[in-house]
Amino acid sequence: MKLTLFACWLLFFCIFLAFPITNHANQIEFLDKLMKSRKSDNPPNSDAWPDLDDAINDEYSPVYISTQDGLMEADKIDALPGQPEGVDFDQYAGYVTVDPKGGRVLFYYFVESPQNSSTNPLVLWLNGGPACSSLIGAMEEQGPFRVNPDGKTLYRNDYAWNNVANVIFLETPAGIGFSYSNTTSDYSQSGDKITAKESYTFLVNWLERFPQYKSRDFYITGESYAGHYVPQLAYTILLNNKHTNQTVINLKGIAIGNAEINDESDYEGQYDYFWTHALNSDETNKAFHKHCIPYSPTDECTDAEVQSDSDMGTVDIYNIYAHLCPLDRKINKSANGSVHQFDPCTDGFMIDYLNLPEVQKAFHARLKQWNLCWPLDWKDSPKTILPIIKQLMAKNISVWIYSGDIDGRVPVTSSRYSINTLKLPIKTPWRPWYTDDEVGGYVVEYKGLVFATVRGAGHQVPSYQPERALTMISSFLQGKLPPTRFE
Ligand SMILES: *[C@@H]1O[C@H](CO)[C@@H](O)[C@H](O)[C@H]1NC(C)=O
Ligand SMILES: *[C@@H]1O[C@H](CO)[C@@H](O)[C@H](O)[C@H]1NC(C)=O
Ligand SMILES: *[C@@H]1O[C@H](CO)[C@@H](O)[C@H](O)[C@H]1NC(C)=O
Ligand SMILES: *[C@@H]1O[C@H](CO)[C@@H](O)[C@H](O)[C@H]1NC(C)=O
Ligand SMILES: *[C@@H]1O[C@H](CO)[C@@H](O)[C@H](O)[C@H]1NC(C)=O
Ligand SMILES: *[C@@H]1O[C@H](CO)[C@@H](O)[C@H](O)[C@H]1NC(C)=O
Repeated sequence: MKLTLFACWLLFFCIFLAFPITNHANQIEFLDKLMKSRKSDNPPNSDAWPDLDDAINDEYSPVYISTQDGLMEADKIDALPGQPEGVDFDQYAGYVTVDPKGGRVLFYYFVESPQNSSTNPLVLWLNGGPACSSLIGAMEEQGPFRVNPDGKTLYRNDYAWNNVANVIFLETPAGIGFSYSNTTSDYSQSGDKITAKESYTFLVNWLERFPQYKSRDFYITGESYAGHYVPQLAYTILLNNKHTNQTVINLKGIAIGNAEINDESDYEGQYDYFWTHALNSDETNKAFHKHCIPYSPTDECTDAEVQSDSDMGTVDIYNIYAHLCPLDRKINKSANGSVHQFDPCTDGFMIDYLNLPEVQKAFHARLKQWNLCWPLDWKDSPKTILPIIKQLMAKNISVWIYSGDIDGRVPVTSSRYSINTLKLPIKTPWRPWYTDDEVGGYVVEYKGLVFATVRGAGHQVPSYQPERALTMISSFLQGKLPPTRFE
């Protein structure tokens, strides 16, 4: 089947592209959808959030819901169907109520470290969209297992981030994945604000359920549109940490990958990436700059965008050098997945797996159709997150922005242009970093912010370069730059 996708290059115009891909929506499609909605008759509210120090907490109400006694034990997973032999760490999954009246609950999957779990930090992972599931991170990226091409069995990811941290994957806000609300009218009120608020409520109550993690060093990580979620949740934690009669979350840092953080420069960076990576002609890039930058909603700009797509042809925008998932790809019972070779059909294997009733039961999820993303209406989304990022830097939160350098959706040029608008002084100049004696990427340390690239990785960095991604995130968690060759 040929699926026609709307590709809406930012804020602005939509172009029809014909992509021979499988017919499920992904993070990029949802990001494009949000950007398109910015120029609709009813755009999401794009007001900046108030300055952290000015934000008066008038509306503060305690978010502690109810006792969590016994729920940790109840959430323990015996085994996931089809998991490999020799699983040497504990896994939990279940629901945390974030609004008892409306019946809103958020689903989480939590994996502890095989070793040193009692001292390793606590890490929360969020995928983007908006409105995509963080189980993508768990089962296609940095989680302990990936799904085999049979859609039924799992194999181990040797480079899972739970080697160095205890990792929570949270499906937020309600409506996504297994998370739900019994007041379904809530779904049309989704947005950045409610996502931050509910994720915070989740955390405070989850820490009651897992009290051994209450004072643990805490980090938030994520990718793509989580470039909004992650800084906004960090902001919400700092705001609420002022109320010391409830759990003070020991937030240490955030790391966001190929992250949407500043619409305008992200947009320009995307087209410059197309040009510098031989996907667009010189003429097309010139026309784009002439007619679209600074952005102007003219026919000439639309023409330049259309020409850009036509120049490029059908490539996987997540990873411009990847194979596409063939249309006639069938489940192959005898093939085994490999963490060293990301299969372009992985989304399909994961959807098959998570829709098996025995898998949903093992996860303690309410039986339902699970999908990667869910079409929630998005009510608010600032056009830039840089002011929040600056406030986090001022509060001594460690901020890392990392970038898989073969992603074409929020490419490395976009992140560089966005960071450059901050005009930060350089502390440690650009240098290569290494994994296994090979360049894993490049890093530059600014005052208050680290920018690291991951060489040969697409939009979902740990999918394509799992070992390099683990090196990078281990350094982040240890508070040091990724290794030089001779460390
Ligand atoms: C939602 O409604 C179902 C069916 O009435 C009920 O079983 C479930 O407990 C409710 N969930 C919450 C969080 O209230
Ligand atoms: C666990 O901690 C010990 C002591 O700090 C350390 O030597 C060891 O390398 C750690 N193991 C892993 C897998 O990180
Ligand atoms: C915590 O303190 C705030 C005022 O700062 C108060 O409104 C709230 O009720 C208190 N919460 C609890 C659980 O005692
Ligand atoms: C797949 O893995 C299973 C279990 O490890 C093994 O028995 C089988 O031979 C493998 N199949 C292929 C095609 O490598
Ligand atoms: C299935 O996978 C096996 C092992 O990788 C391979 O030899 C075989 O050609 C595949 N079959 C199909 C129909 O793709
Ligand atoms: C800033 O954070 C670092 C690392 O967590 C810590 O060592 C340092 O003491 C902090 N500085 C201030 C002023 O809080």
